Amino acid sequence: MPSNKLHRAKVLLHRPAGRGYYRLVLLAPGLAAAAAPGHFVMLRVSANLDPLLARPFGISSVIAKRSIELYYRVAGRGTTLLTAVEPGRTLDLLGPLGNGFPVPDRAATPLLVAGGSGFPPLLYFSSRYGKQARLFVGSRDKECLPPAAVMKDLRSRTKAVHYATEDGSRGACGFVTDTLAAYLARPAAGESPVIYACGPNAMLASVSRLAAEHSIPCYVSLEERMACGLGVCMGCSVSMKSGGYKRVCKEGPVFDSREIDWGGKTILQVGR
Ligand SMILES: Cc1cc2nc3c(=O)[nH]c(=O)nc-3n(C[C@H](O)[C@H](O)[C@H](O)COP(=O)(O)OP(=O)(O)OC[C@H]3O[C@@H](n4cnc5c(N)ncnc54)[C@H](O)[C@@H]3O)c2cc1C
Ligand code: FES
Repeated sequence: MPSNKLHRAKVLLHRPAGRGYYRLVLLAPGLAAAAAPGHFVMLRVSANLDPLLARPFGISSVIAKRSIELYYRVAGRGTTLLTAVEPGRTLDLLGPLGNGFPVPDRAATPLLVAGGSGFPPLLYFSSRYGKQARLFVGSRDKECLPPAAVMKDLRSRTKAVHYATEDGSRGACGFVTDTLAAYLARPAAGESPVIYACGPNAMLASVSRLAAEHSIPCYVSLEERMACGLGVCMGCSVSMKSGGYKRVCKEGPVFDSREIDWGGKTILQVGR
């Protein structure tokens, strides 16, 4: 079970990882011991409450059962401030948070679909269940793919990697969902696909449509903006097909794609 405990974590390693990402390794034994693929943390990026709110990041790996690894892309003020944090400093964080991915059946072939900066939780997933998985990874061009070291790990852990770039500079030319659609039209013999996806909402909505067309299970990890990360502020709520809302930080971030009302709106956007 994820614990909501506050951790003080020492920064063991923090450096640019290439392609606009940073790799951050934090010593947090209690958190690392409880973490599972799909969990995330709320990280306070500075000690002086500026910005006020912590920022959510998916756990991409647990190292030696004592440390967690994060990959982040500079998106705005919080992540820009974070880049200046040096090894040896401590950072406050909450976690592990969220429900995590369901464990795949032994007979299943997980199709890991990663778009944008959605690869970290799938990287962690691949360390546990990669052998039986195929990775579908897409971006605008080859320079926007996950960092080279991450791609090396993903390639070595999974049985196949299917690339797509919108400009055709790596793999098939087009969206990652086009590559996924082509595979689902003619899956490899004996494979029983189950989709695990993380990326921009538009991509997740398309993946969800494809899964429904082919009647295959599909789990999506959503990246809504978050304020508390603990289920209190309701700022991350998304509308459900059955009516009502669910909180991405508490009931998610992983949902069965059939549950989500993809045309719906979040309740409110919280100022940060
Ligand atoms: C569960 C979860 C896991 C995440 N894991 C990762 C990860 O592993 N690596 C990573 O690089 N990023 C991840 N994100 C996104 C990350 O939290 C945001 O990029 C970060 O909070 C931006 O903070 P900022 O202060 O730098 O940007 P802000 O100044 O707050 O915003 C800058 C821009 O980023 C956009 N943005 C802010 N938050 C989000 C969000 N949650 N989703 C999409 N766009 C956002 C804003 O709309 C704005 O355009 C995750 C988000 C969630 C909810
Ligand atoms: S971020 Fe506050 S309820 Fe989810």
